[in-house]
Amino acid sequence: MSSSVVETVESERTPAEKMKLRAALIERIGGYMTAHAIGLAAELGLADLIKDGVRSSEELAAGTGTHEPSLRRLLRTLAAVGITEEPEPGRFGLTEVGAQLRSDSPDSLRAFSRIFCHPSLFGAWAGLGHTVSTGEPAYDHVFGKEFYAHLSEQADLSALFNEAMGEESRIAAGQLAAGYDYSGFRKVVDLGGGDGTLLATVLPGHPGLRGVVFDSASGVAQAPGVLAAAGVADRCEVVGGDFFQDIPGDGDLYVIKSVFQDWGDEDSRALLRSVRAQMPESATLLIVGTVLPETASPEFPIMFFTDLNMLVNTGGRERSESEFRAMLEDTGFAVESVRLGAAGPLSIIEAVPAGAAR
Ligand SMILES: C[S@@+](CC[C@H](N)C(=O)[O-])C[C@H]1O[C@@H](n2cnc3c(N)ncnc32)[C@H](O)[C@@H]1O
Repeated sequence: MSSSVVETVESERTPAEKMKLRAALIERIGGYMTAHAIGLAAELGLADLIKDGVRSSEELAAGTGTHEPSLRRLLRTLAAVGITEEPEPGRFGLTEVGAQLRSDSPDSLRAFSRIFCHPSLFGAWAGLGHTVSTGEPAYDHVFGKEFYAHLSEQADLSALFNEAMGEESRIAAGQLAAGYDYSGFRKVVDLGGGDGTLLATVLPGHPGLRGVVFDSASGVAQAPGVLAAAGVADRCEVVGGDFFQDIPGDGDLYVIKSVFQDWGDEDSRALLRSVRAQMPESATLLIVGTVLPETASPEFPIMFFTDLNMLVNTGGRERSESEFRAMLEDTGFAVESVRLGAAGPLSIIEAVPAGAAR
């Protein structure tokens, strides 16, 4: 088969159909230009300057210290992909999609846009070929350091990463706050909890509950501020450490959200063994994260990009339900429930120590 079949079909295409096929590919290739344009808009804080209404490119250039004719071309390109709008020549407003770049929005994705378009993540993606040839993370190859080790040496970048993860977590955290029954629990330990967004969202509606945000020292650096802003600092400890070594042993609910994707199978099993060995026998583990369908599906393409992004940056991977089940069962857990898509696009897997009397 069939280059000849393909050739025949291609030769039967009308010029208009061929143009459409070409455009479908070219638009996808242009994805990196779209990402750079959005990342720069986020970096410059353009959405904050436009939030009160339409502004001229001259005003926006003055507000951002940029070259007006070039900024106007950036704004026009952003209008072409639905981030800004140009109701009259040279004047720009925000669309609802673009409004998510505002830093004062509760649904902000500004830090998320900045980190994903940062030279460190972009730089690693330039090494995709190395990753696919060797199976090793391009990040280490390009920067000579593992992703989290490198992040821990750059306080500003680490703060941006933590904020970005917090932004990404907000919807799932809201769904976990409203949709999970905490009545049987006293203390929730969020392992790899980053800036504390999850517990800052869960604790306010559950006054009897205490929490611990546990992450590396650089990972928890912003957590005290986030917890204080949510009014729950007095009910939530912030602990820096290495979850492969020591974790707080006095919780009764352990949450691990968007963490296993960072790690290959050996490290993920090591993390589960660390948790299993240190959590009380009566405690519950909640894994919150992407659960891949068993076969590729175009329904949520972002899941597959995230999987590849993990391969490039950390050597980690997304997993299917059967892969999570196998990993949990091998490390001494019994899976109680799997709720697909119960936290936004993320899923919730509830597990308990296998064989423990409950
Ligand atoms: C992808 S982020 C997820 C953060 C947060 N759970 C969320 O969903 O927004 C993974 C987190 O794991 C943390 N982490 C990585 N290695 C760690 C280690 N050895 N010990 C503790 N935390 C670690 C990182 O600092 C980071 O905050």
